[in-house]
Amino acid sequence: SINTVIMSGGSGSRLWPMSRSTHPKQFLPLCGEFTMLQQTALRLDGLEQEGRILVVANQNHRFLVAEQLREIGVKSPQIILEPCARNTAPAVALAALQVHKQEPEALMLVLAADHLIQDEEAFRQAVRDAAPCAAEGHILTFGIVPDHPATGYGYIQAGEQFVSSIRQVDNFVEKPNLEKAEAYLSEGNFLWNSGMFLIRADIYLSELKKYRPDILEACEKSFENTSDDMDFVRPGVEEFAACPKDSIDYAIMEKSQVVKVIPLDAGWSDVGSWTELANQHSEDTYENSCVGDTLTIDSERNFIRANKKLIATVGVSDLLIVDTDDALLVAHKSKAQDVKKIVEELKEQS
Ligand code: GDD
Ligand code: MG
Repeated sequence: SINTVIMSGGSGSRLWPMSRSTHPKQFLPLCGEFTMLQQTALRLDGLEQEGRILVVANQNHRFLVAEQLREIGVKSPQIILEPCARNTAPAVALAALQVHKQEPEALMLVLAADHLIQDEEAFRQAVRDAAPCAAEGHILTFGIVPDHPATGYGYIQAGEQFVSSIRQVDNFVEKPNLEKAEAYLSEGNFLWNSGMFLIRADIYLSELKKYRPDILEACEKSFENTSDDMDFVRPGVEEFAACPKDSIDYAIMEKSQVVKVIPLDAGWSDVGSWTELANQHSEDTYENSCVGDTLTIDSERNFIRANKKLIATVGVSDLLIVDTDDALLVAHKSKAQDVKKIVEELKEQS
């Protein structure tokens, strides 16, 4: 069976001021009627996966997760609560331990809670196509054809054909610098890592043991001290706090020798910052994308999200303007990645 593991513990600080620590982006309806977490779970409808849905999230968000899954009718999810954020390698380790307990060789479809996918059936078909290979013990990544030298993604150098549409991975480079990203783009055989993986629970744990035994050990100790309450799985607090931080990409994907890639052409996007979100909205003739009550004069290529009051601009271009009840963001589009600095600064002040 395929169990779905949704990593839902990110802070989404580049989407401030909509995304807040009490309400990070994955719990917001940023695009459409459903929240990002709900869209992630709903996308599985039609995938004959039989397995259960596990969500790994921060304990402070447990009721948000439970309520949002209940709203869309997810039956008996398992919600694994992290006492603190240790990034995705430990988060997936906790899920793998939980799955392993019930069925060691079960597949885990590891998903991020911050993606948009237009062609959901194409996504499900890629998962189906990847499953037999993952069941044999390979780690399947889903590769996106890159269209610009983004530095916020992992790059997968696709090698020879492995089986059907699945290819060997010659190299995996997490978040390269701009120079490297440009070189990869011109080489033509690099794909973006979509941040979704298909992997057997036992394989994840054995690869972690090989490359990051320190993380595995801390997660095992924490998992041994798990207490269950209702749908919530609560691993031991101190043991987890002692776990080193690392992402699954650095800890496993860059190092593992069993990584394969299947191309995914499904209108995938990571809603990492306001730039990506702006691209989801239609543009006027001056390439402004506006949400809510707005008026633009002599203004080009802005993204404006009004809240309760009208936002009017004259003669400005390439701005991100996002209004909420208690904070207003005005940023240059080229600095979208730096919005998180505001959050860091505010944290320091408080
Ligand atoms: N449970 C849990 N705990 N989830 C977490 C944690 C954590 O400590 N940290 C992040 N997450 C969740 C986020 O909420 C998100 O859904 C997912 O894990 C990925 O984390 P991001 O922080 O958004 O990663 P990224 O976008 O910088 O990079 C990853 O995704 C890219 C594609 O979107 C990498 O896998 C890249 O290689 C990839 O290209
Ligand atoms: Mg992301």
